Amino acid sequence: MHLHNRVIYKNNRIRQQYNTVYTIGYQKIKIIRISICLVNKEKLRERLSIREYFHELGIGSVTVKKLEALGIRSVEELLMFTKEELVDLGISERVVGKLVINARQIIRKKKNRKIVYTAGELEQRGRRLFTTGCKSLDGLLGGGIETGALTEFAGEFGSGKTQICHQLAVTVQLPPEKGGLDAKALYIDTEKAFSWERVYSIASRFNLSKDYVKNRIYVVQVANVEELEYFVKVDLRREVPVEELGLMIVDSLISHFRAELIGLDKLAQRQQRINYLCNWLFRYAFIYNLAVVYTNQVTQVVNGYVRYKKPAGGTVLEHAATYRILLRKAKENTSIATLIDSPRLPKLSVEFKITENGIEDVS
Ligand SMILES: Nc1ncnc2c1ncn2[C@@H]1O[C@H](COP(=O)(O)OP(=O)(O)O)[C@@H](O)[C@H]1O
Ligand SMILES: [Mg+2]
Repeated sequence: MHLHNRVIYKNNRIRQQYNTVYTIGYQKIKIIRISICLVNKEKLRERLSIREYFHELGIGSVTVKKLEALGIRSVEELLMFTKEELVDLGISERVVGKLVINARQIIRKKKNRKIVYTAGELEQRGRRLFTTGCKSLDGLLGGGIETGALTEFAGEFGSGKTQICHQLAVTVQLPPEKGGLDAKALYIDTEKAFSWERVYSIASRFNLSKDYVKNRIYVVQVANVEELEYFVKVDLRREVPVEELGLMIVDSLISHFRAELIGLDKLAQRQQRINYLCNWLFRYAFIYNLAVVYTNQVTQVVNGYVRYKKPAGGTVLEHAATYRILLRKAKENTSIATLIDSPRLPKLSVEFKITENGIEDVS
């Protein structure tokens, strides 16, 4: 049985308490149903379960249950947390010390995991990318959206950020021969902007049926910063089969922060919390090798007579994403995307149009 099912369904309390994530197919009707996926099972088997590990350390089943209730089911997942975070979540300091100190050693020893690669070996492994479904955007991004990395789409309202997110939630599901990852998507929606209608229209353009895509996109709507933070940190692993995801979307990352933490006196706290959230997103990208895509708003910069728009979030977000794309509305239904930051690609601009079918090349 899928480990995840066990966590969610075995414990009635958890089942009743945490039914915040829905796939489109079950939206408003039922709590999330997680399908049994062979690939995922394999991956989980590869991982060291907490029970096995705890047995070795002589740690009691009460702690095991506590960790499982937090969605921590493997040593890898345990290592997503810092010691301070585990203590904050209610694990005793004594146990945490014992756990974290030994976890890394054990995982290396047992899995004989390679940690240093030569440039040549990395080249051979290659980058795992998936198509945006739009040639010009793929070109801008050096082939598509990269897994294990964070990609930011910033832009004024109506510039196409949400449409891009919807499209990516579909294209990640495409089979590899069509440029996808044959994987699922998680859509963290902070603006109530998610639309299954858009997903279905976009899917039909890529010859994916409504029935196929509807249970492969998980949607969670969060109403404030705290909900967003807690979801990412705890509920996510508990409610979503993370191993099956190829893409995690946060649309938009910044809106709640901008609305709730206002004024100069809250600025430091706001930046710190945005930074912390991005750090968590990076942990997922890194540990599960999935793509994280988030959207950002823009602020107006006035410098003498020169006015221009730049992504919001200040220096924290300047450093968070691996790829940053700034979107600008152009004529009619077209927008211009500029890659403003990338560790390996030049600064370029391309045009795309927004249609009933999603994001498309202009010609
Ligand atoms: N079904 C549709 N057909 C064509 N265009 C659409 C459709 N739905 C939304 N759009 C266009 O998408 C634009 C909004 O893009 P969106 O991605 O929501 O912007 P934002 O950057 O604010 O997230 C609007 O200009 C709207 O005209
Ligand atoms: Mg939007």
